[in-house]
Amino acid sequence: MLFRQLFDRQSSTYTYLIASGKGREALIIDPVKEQMPVYLGLIEQLDLKLVRAIDTHTHADHITALGDLRDATGCVTLMGEFTRAECVSQHVREGEIVDVDGVRLKALYTPGHTNESFSFVRDGRGECEDAVFTGDVLLIRGSGRTDFQGGDPYASYDSIVNKLFALGEETRVYPAHDYKGFTVSTIWEERRFNPRLAGKSAEQYAEIMRSLNLPDPKMMDVAVPANLACGQRA
Ligand SMILES: [Fe+2]
Repeated sequence: MLFRQLFDRQSSTYTYLIASGKGREALIIDPVKEQMPVYLGLIEQLDLKLVRAIDTHTHADHITALGDLRDATGCVTLMGEFTRAECVSQHVREGEIVDVDGVRLKALYTPGHTNESFSFVRDGRGECEDAVFTGDVLLIRGSGRTDFQGGDPYASYDSIVNKLFALGEETRVYPAHDYKGFTVSTIWEERRFNPRLAGKSAEQYAEIMRSLNLPDPKMMDVAVPANLACGQRA
């Protein structure tokens, strides 16, 4: 299994490049436009053929590389079925499997941070660890804000507690962002130690989320319209 966790320092975004091995077809999750040279360099060095570029949701804090990757590699752009990004060519539904040359990702509808967020579950099939790419709905010891883009704290709680926490305890958690230096967690850890969720009711969680009072992301007015066009015009 080939697995690269890449980091965009400007937006603290994690991007994941995955393939079943060198010289194989690959997919990328939550790529950042400014990091295009890094992705193209790795794809070339590892002799990969990029066939899917996936966004977990419409990001508000950075511009996606989906459109640029499609133009550079001919890959298919993919998001969940409720995205408003009309440039995306493949839309997946709950339970649908994306199979890239033996890497199998199952789409899980996990609204709450936005109303169109999906998570993607990798079935390791005994060959590598099971993993879930949670976008921004579940972060390590945190969770994505729920106060814009159709966000809803009760939907977020339901997605995390009833869908993500129902995954196997050893499932690795790979979020789209981290601001504290964490790179990976597990479902077991987050169930026990996520301070917003461990032992909290939906009402308590909603109260925590409502009292965050976060400023809008600096790039929001630019990033959201640009990302609805796969990062290619604002
Ligand atoms: Fe987000």
